[in-house]
Amino acid sequence: MELSECEACHGNHKILPPSDEMLGTGEKAVCIQCHEPDSEPYQIASRIKEKLDAFIKKIRHAESLLEQADRQGVEVSEPKFMLTEANSTLIFVRNLTHSFSLMEIEEKIGDGEKVVAEVTNAGEAALREAKFRKTGLIIATCFIFLLSIALFLKIRQIDKKKSS
Ligand code: HEC
Ligand code: HEC
Repeated sequence: MELSECEACHGNHKILPPSDEMLGTGEKAVCIQCHEPDSEPYQIASRIKEKLDAFIKKIRHAESLLEQADRQGVEVSEPKFMLTEANSTLIFVRNLTHSFSLMEIEEKIGDGEKVVAEVTNAGEAALREAKFRKTGLIIATCFIFLLSIALFLKIRQIDKKKSS
């Protein structure tokens, strides 16, 4: 691809920053300017966008799990670091859209999704741990409460014995 060819999609004023909406067959997609529905490139454009959107959704989901766990005080720095790897893959894939190679893009997204799946598992485990800790705290509180009632009754019993 030569530099002058960039204008076909990016415009010659470089005002519009590249966005995911440029890709695919939506209203703002550049692909539909040249490719008719039912043509193969049109189908490929739509498929690439679908794959990309699904990948981004998975990343966001994993991200929100980690944020929740973080707020509940569970250590998640390691999966957070792994997520930066998935975000780098996303940047790579966005640039890879220029290749129009669905196979190459699917492969790269597949790699990224494996990482995101691990992060998601770690996030879910962290949330389970937070819940477990909370339940433990409730049980401990109940136990202390019962103990203090028992202690109170015992003291009263001793007091009664003394006064009688
Ligand atoms: C066939 C249309 C098309 C042509 C031609 C094209 N691009 Fe793109 N470019 C896109 C689309 C679509 C995106 C948005 C990808 C995304 O973010 O999902 C994009 C994104 C980009 C990005 C941002 C990538 C990112 O990280 O978000 C850069 C930089 C870029 N193009 C540079 C260029 C340059 C330089 C050329 C010429 C050599 C060029 N493009 C030619 C369609 C095109
Ligand atoms: C400025 C016109 C133009 C735009 C915009 C454009 N294309 Fe194309 N595209 C072409 C031409 C011309 C060909 C080559 C002839 C053909 O195969 O139809 C082509 C070929 C293709 C091919 C098949 C050839 C190959 O390299 O495998 C795919 C896939 C493709 N385009 C996808 C896209 C996608 C995705 C977008 C949007 C990001 C896009 N095109 C935007 C003009 C365009």
